[in-house]
Amino acid sequence: MAIKIDTVIIDSEETSRELIANYLETVDDVNIIQQFKDILAAQDYIIENRPPLVIVDITKKTNISLDVISKLTTLVKNIKIIVLSYETESDIVIKALRAGAREFLVKPLIEKDFIAAVQKMKDLILGNINDTTKCKVITTFSNKGGIGKTSIAVNLAMEIANITKEKVALVDLNMQMGDITTFLNLDPSFDTSYVINNLDRIDETFLLTTLEQYNKTSLYVLADPPDIEQAEIITSEDITTLINILRNVFSYIVIDTTSSFDAKTITALDNSDLILLVSIINLPSIRNCQRCFDLFKKLGYSKDKIKLIINRYMEADDIKIEDVEEVLDHKVFFKIPNNYYTIINSINKGIPICDASPNSNICKSFKQLGALLSDNYSYNNKTSKPQNQREQGFKFLNLFNRNKGDN
Ligand SMILES: Nc1ncnc2c1ncn2[C@@H]1O[C@H](COP(=O)(O)OP(=O)(O)OP(=O)(O)O)[C@@H](O)[C@H]1O
Ligand SMILES: [Mg+2]
Repeated sequence: MAIKIDTVIIDSEETSRELIANYLETVDDVNIIQQFKDILAAQDYIIENRPPLVIVDITKKTNISLDVISKLTTLVKNIKIIVLSYETESDIVIKALRAGAREFLVKPLIEKDFIAAVQKMKDLILGNINDTTKCKVITTFSNKGGIGKTSIAVNLAMEIANITKEKVALVDLNMQMGDITTFLNLDPSFDTSYVINNLDRIDETFLLTTLEQYNKTSLYVLADPPDIEQAEIITSEDITTLINILRNVFSYIVIDTTSSFDAKTITALDNSDLILLVSIINLPSIRNCQRCFDLFKKLGYSKDKIKLIINRYMEADDIKIEDVEEVLDHKVFFKIPNNYYTIINSINKGIPICDASPNSNICKSFKQLGALLSDNYSYNNKTSKPQNQREQGFKFLNLFNRNKGDN
């Protein structure tokens, strides 16, 4: 007989509790044992009965709910909590995940996302998957230099580690020209070539001691080899092997690349679950992005695999986001504000942006991006805000159409 997963629902809205119960009926082996309107009323019941799955709406009494969630995840071993909320503020998402929630879903619920989240919890509870098999590989790329790839890779990896507390590997594939160690002021003893030369010795302990742990966090850095001979003997096959072994130990791998379409970079892109294609808003950069999209299409990458990131974004830019989206036929996934002072201050100090300038708009932006790209948060539910209205017929598009044939 299949094991039933005892589940508690906590939601102040009766209609919402009914809806959740209806959705749960479609998932095999989930058994609702109790429903509550209020998390404070539910906490003793949960501590006593130790259900493996709790689904809780935290829209009202958010802070109290987060405190209770934190208490429950400490007291009830292996409990899995799915948090629901009408609030989409990244601060709340981050606090919920830090309190120990495994999933954050934005209300109103989308049935398929909700069921996928429950199914994932069910697989975890039944041991069908363990937490590290879900490793997500995210690579920052642009075929233009100096666009912000390293800034994004470093700060995104740091925030994913901060938010999820899961192990994140940050890998520098800029062979002998990497900047990650400078950005984080590290002087690692080992690098990519050392790992690749010791493939026969690799296990979890080897990796966790060879990659450089950043400041007692769950972020581990794998630097590029500093010397040309070591860099040149690394093959594309080695890159695939490296990513595959890291996948066994880390929940996330963030890869920083060079600005060229060389074989190693393409291998990293092939092996990635998500490519963050970074651009700034100007004509040369957008044109380069178009070339990247053409190549990605030839490489057979799905549109979903590529997330377009606009770096150094300024509201007052002449060229609007809609223009970029129209020209590239791709939605902008995320915008990072232009803030040279904050970034350069963090680089010069050799510490992540949120350590150097915790109140800056850039730090807030990286926390949001980290939350969006961490698996515990259902970002598909987030609808982007409408863009500013503007006058039609802006010259950027005309300019682009005129130049289209030049490629
Ligand atoms: N959001 C931002 N606002 C202002 N300046 C930024 C922003 N992001 C990056 N920069 C600046 O752009 C410069 C290049 O950034 P970064 O090194 O991250 O780019 P890159 O694409 O990795 O460059 P490379 O191709 O040389 O590896 C840095 O000096 C940084 O200060
Ligand atoms: Mg770089």
